[in-house]
Amino acid sequence: MNKKETLILESTTLWDFPTQNYGNKPHGNNKYNGVTPAFVIWNLLQRYTKEGDLVIDPMCGSGTTYDVAVELKRKVECFDLNIVRKEVKKADARKLPLKNNIADFVFIDSPYSDNIKYSDDKNCIGKISCENNKFYDELEKVAIEIKRILKKNKYMAWLIGDQWIKRKFTPTGFLLFNRLIKHFEPVDIISVTRHNQTSNTGLWHYRARKFNFYLRGFKYLFIMKNTKS
Ligand SMILES: C[S@@+](CC[C@H](N)C(=O)[O-])C[C@H]1O[C@@H](n2cnc3c(N)ncnc32)[C@H](O)[C@@H]1O
Repeated sequence: MNKKETLILESTTLWDFPTQNYGNKPHGNNKYNGVTPAFVIWNLLQRYTKEGDLVIDPMCGSGTTYDVAVELKRKVECFDLNIVRKEVKKADARKLPLKNNIADFVFIDSPYSDNIKYSDDKNCIGKISCENNKFYDELEKVAIEIKRILKKNKYMAWLIGDQWIKRKFTPTGFLLFNRLIKHFEPVDIISVTRHNQTSNTGLWHYRARKFNFYLRGFKYLFIMKNTKS
């Protein structure tokens, strides 16, 4: 662990982590496009799981959830369409090869739109723009699948950001939230500060001021409970 990077259980709804990783070992791969800050998953697993619990990540990418869960002695199953390491199994998040009601916790950091190319797989939801209703239809199918595998009264957390592109704002987070509350009970909404994104340059800050728009400063982390039948 680097001195600066003390692991703290967050106590407010504003989470701001200076780096993607903590400690000296990698958690996921910070070169993977859209990699999740490992601290987010660490905080969630500390709060909502205990040793031996089964954690699932249906869109695990470079395996951040896998690494954090193993370190915390949780059981873990990870899936993605884009396979970059052997611990992550190939599956579509809308049809997971898992039985009903087996997960103690689900974490998911889904595509936010079609801004990142994850793979050539035609089923990648990251090929659909968040300006299109189909994007939310497909994410809702993922939510229904999460509900199927999650035990009753257990928790899931979903990380997502809004979009501002070509002078158009899309409240992706709110639009997804509207779908999620059809299936889950909201527990809380965390604002996770965005760092190291490609637009975090002097030129982009100048443009944001000059042309009267805002750079994305945070992502939503929706924490939800599986109370509904
Ligand atoms: C934001 S990234 C996840 C990053 C990951 N948490 C990490 O730390 O590396 C979103 C992931 O969703 C995956 N994905 C998109 N559509 C999918 C689908 N239908 N089923 C499974 N994975 C999908 C992409 O391949 C990508 O890896």
